Amino acid sequence: MDFRSDNISGAAPEIMAALADANHGTASAYGNDEWSRKLDAAFSALFETECRVFPVATGTAANVLSLSAITPGHGVIYCHEESHIAVDECNAPEFFTGGAKLFTLPGVAGKIDVDALKTALGQGWRGVQHHPQPAAVSIGQATESGTVYAPDEIAAIAAICREHGLRLHMDGARFANAVAGINASAADLSWRAGVDVMSFGATKNGAVAAEAVVFFRPELAQDFLYRRKRGGHLFSKMRFISAQLLAMLQDGLWLKLARQANARAQQLADGLRTLPDVTVAYPVQANEVFATMPDAMVARLKAGGAQFHPWSWDGRMHRFVCSFDKTEADVAALLKLAAG
Ligand SMILES: Cc1ncc(COP(=O)(O)O)c(C=O)c1O
Repeated sequence: MDFRSDNISGAAPEIMAALADANHGTASAYGNDEWSRKLDAAFSALFETECRVFPVATGTAANVLSLSAITPGHGVIYCHEESHIAVDECNAPEFFTGGAKLFTLPGVAGKIDVDALKTALGQGWRGVQHHPQPAAVSIGQATESGTVYAPDEIAAIAAICREHGLRLHMDGARFANAVAGINASAADLSWRAGVDVMSFGATKNGAVAAEAVVFFRPELAQDFLYRRKRGGHLFSKMRFISAQLLAMLQDGLWLKLARQANARAQQLADGLRTLPDVTVAYPVQANEVFATMPDAMVARLKAGGAQFHPWSWDGRMHRFVCSFDKTEADVAALLKLAAG
């Protein structure tokens, strides 16, 4: 009963098969292999627009390298106060941008409050040599609260970005869960709504280690080869990273796995809502459930071997994440234990 995260699971069989398939013969190194060379076309087809795609191995690398491409060291990146880049990346965004400032904003259920963003941008920093210069906004899709920005919510932020000359980045470590969660197209949840560059996650969705930086504006990618190399993510045996990404896109595997994870999260949320004194904190739109529960229930779950993380400073809220390989029986067992 391990619900700590989605990276506690192994890899999907299709990914292991793709790795085995790629494990024969020789292949050019450093991304000049036949798998890596197919990525631009595969992602362009998925997103229905021309993309430039750069595989990396961690979500942090995808985020911070893409942010470095759109933010100078004297720039500001506006993000949610609970965003992964602000809380969980150990100042890598600041390091890889050469010192950019993360300006954190409030907002309900993990989404940036648009008025707070407008207020922050209304401070008159632009063009004043004493102030850091507004450069980018970064949003999570899905958010750190397991919610999903609808296309019009992204478009509202993108409009502010355009008005103020900022670029829009999307942390899509759980993009598959977001797309599966609200049944919109990959394009509608990204560039069509105004996203310039995104981190496309595969690891949490059943890969071994594979993420992609996807540029929807090829001109922003001009020096990215050098940034990736300097950041230590130009893998000599890149074929294995790229083979995982291609396998994810093949026959819609990425959505199949995400739908499985999301369905288990719905089952869990539905079950928790029937229990006394349990509150599910946010709309469950992807594969995460946040809930407050009576202390006795938390203790009973822990004593019974269930694993999950506390998710608020006061310890009252807890996070349950469903990965692609959770079964109905796994969730039912957790709910039975919770019910006592
Ligand atoms: C929303 C989000 N973005 C980025 C990351 C970073 O991924 P990694 O741990 O592979 O660096 C994570 C990982 O937990 C995440 O949840």
